[in-house]
Amino acid sequence: MFRTRRLYRPVLLLAMAMGCCVMGYMLVLHQDASSVHSLMNIPENIHNFQEYQRVHEKDALHIDSSNNDKIEQIASLLGVDVNLNHEADVSNKILQIELLLDKFRTQGDDKQAGNVLKEIQSVLQFSSNDRTNNNITSVNKTVAVEEKVSAESILENIENLLEQPVVPPPPIPKVKLDIKPYIKEPNFKPSICSKTVTKYAEKSAWFKSRHIPDIKIFMDKYDVNNFTNYYKLSHYGLPFGIKGVDRKVLAQVLNNPNFTNPNLFPNTRPNCVRCAVVGCGGVLNGSNAGEEIDGHDFVFRLNRALTKGKFGKDTGVRTSFYTFFPESQYTKEVQDQTNAKFIYVNFKKYDVDYANNMLRGVKSPPMISYARNKTWYPPKPLLNVQNLKIVHPDFMRYVFTRFLDFKAYRPTTGALVVFLALHICDEVNMYGFGYDSRFSIHYYDTKYIALTKASVASHDVDNERQLWQKLTDQGILYLYNRTDV
Ligand SMILES: *[C@@H]1O[C@H](CO)[C@@H](O)[C@H](O)[C@H]1NC(C)=O
Ligand SMILES: *[C@@H]1O[C@H](CO)[C@@H](O)[C@H](O)[C@H]1NC(C)=O
Ligand SMILES: *[C@@H]1O[C@H](CO)[C@@H](O)[C@H](O)[C@H]1NC(C)=O
Ligand SMILES: *[C@@H]1O[C@H](CO)[C@@H](O)[C@H](O)[C@H]1NC(C)=O
Ligand SMILES: *[C@@H]1O[C@H](CO)[C@@H](O)[C@H](O)[C@H]1NC(C)=O
Ligand SMILES: *[C@@H]1O[C@H](CO)[C@@H](O)[C@H](O)[C@H]1NC(C)=O
Ligand SMILES: *[C@@H]1O[C@H](CO)[C@@H](O)[C@H](O)[C@H]1NC(C)=O
Repeated sequence: MFRTRRLYRPVLLLAMAMGCCVMGYMLVLHQDASSVHSLMNIPENIHNFQEYQRVHEKDALHIDSSNNDKIEQIASLLGVDVNLNHEADVSNKILQIELLLDKFRTQGDDKQAGNVLKEIQSVLQFSSNDRTNNNITSVNKTVAVEEKVSAESILENIENLLEQPVVPPPPIPKVKLDIKPYIKEPNFKPSICSKTVTKYAEKSAWFKSRHIPDIKIFMDKYDVNNFTNYYKLSHYGLPFGIKGVDRKVLAQVLNNPNFTNPNLFPNTRPNCVRCAVVGCGGVLNGSNAGEEIDGHDFVFRLNRALTKGKFGKDTGVRTSFYTFFPESQYTKEVQDQTNAKFIYVNFKKYDVDYANNMLRGVKSPPMISYARNKTWYPPKPLLNVQNLKIVHPDFMRYVFTRFLDFKAYRPTTGALVVFLALHICDEVNMYGFGYDSRFSIHYYDTKYIALTKASVASHDVDNERQLWQKLTDQGILYLYNRTDV
């Protein structure tokens, strides 16, 4: 790639000198298309790639400033200096980064993460000094594992950044979303624990006015087979309803004999259930909170819930519930595959097709990424589908409208999991939540990454931070913080 860059620069300058900018840009793109192909070894989709490149030539001529911003944000995530001396470079770099990420994801191979990161860095032309420092092949094994984890977390942030919609989704009209009644759990039995969330809630008018203890949390076949339920859910689109979802597919999912929708409690429910909800916050790095976390009856985890190796002492190793959606699944990180339950969230139509394939035990369906104008195959999750539960759209709507006050355009997985815990358990303790500038964003980062708009993608961090604070102040839950630093 470096060779190519040196090659095309004179061509570009020549073209510009000739006052022939349009031609010049096209030459640049053409040069890079072939070099990316030969260097990246893109297999059968060379035609797609060229097609894609051709389609984007137009864009290269009208670069908007948001592209510049994205490249700068990506460069800052990677900790490299980026040379943005020519606009045509910018969109071309974004394109190459997108292709590298697709390559990494279609292979679904962890070991590629570090390599892809290196390639991205080389696309961004960082100095040879930096390159040497980041030479992953030259470090020892322990360090290499850490580099891999770091690479993955950076890639995740880059992916989020690239996935940000160009046009934000339209705001959800306020009146409409909270107007329909919520579906209740027909078999709901209130907890008999003397110190339970509902009891604490009695003391908080704010919480009590929002809380629906018997709301239906998980989907079952009656949500599609029973017309009353189906009709109620048809008023809203995903993730708050099933409007626009192919009923046949949904019926296949919920009626699949592999979807056993197991009970939350294998035997009878203990009188009092203590739960830990573990996020990925940097506050856990060096916390030694692992034993405390594992000491709960249930441990909820989500997203990149690394617990193996050195992480265990800070994060614990048990997982009772792991929550995921297609792009966020790291199901292989769940250590106790036999006992863990996997909680799946349908955020969009694709996710229903993905669930269908997952239950049928076949390859994931192709996903069209609008940001990239491209199709890719998210990896098949590693899990026993007999342990799968599916979040009810009304539960999502409830959390969003009653507790997040319609901010952002949907709740984050973190917010969702905290409320799942508040409805399943009697006591909820949150670990690794609440961004805190004393720590890197994630506990698994190997280099400090500051909280920036780029690094958390489109999540409404402030809104959630206030919510955790409010729930803590009202005595509904406990939020772990560090006093030792
Ligand atoms: C990276 O390290 C390997 C092994 O030490 C070495 O062969 C290679 O030349 C290095 N690459 C760079 C770019 O420094
Ligand atoms: C590899 O690096 C780790 C962490 O810096 C260090 O503890 C270990 O001794 C190193 N191993 C070798 C063989 O150099
Ligand atoms: C469908 O669900 C509603 C509400 O839960 C219930 O009243 C009704 O009896 C159900 N109908 C059938 C046929 O099961
Ligand atoms: C259930 O899962 C098994 C194993 O993946 C698969 O072979 C079977 O076809 C699935 N059954 C249905 C009805 O999808
Ligand atoms: C996406 O790609 C297809 C062909 O690959 C093309 O027809 C279409 O115009 C592209 N859309 C955008 C928004 O670039
Ligand atoms: C944890 O405590 C520190 C220091 O008191 C404070 O700045 C930070 O906001 C707290 N974090 C959370 C998530 O409450
Ligand atoms: C994690 O904590 C250790 C000390 O416990 C520190 O050396 C390291 O820099 C921290 N990692 C990050 C990414 O901040």
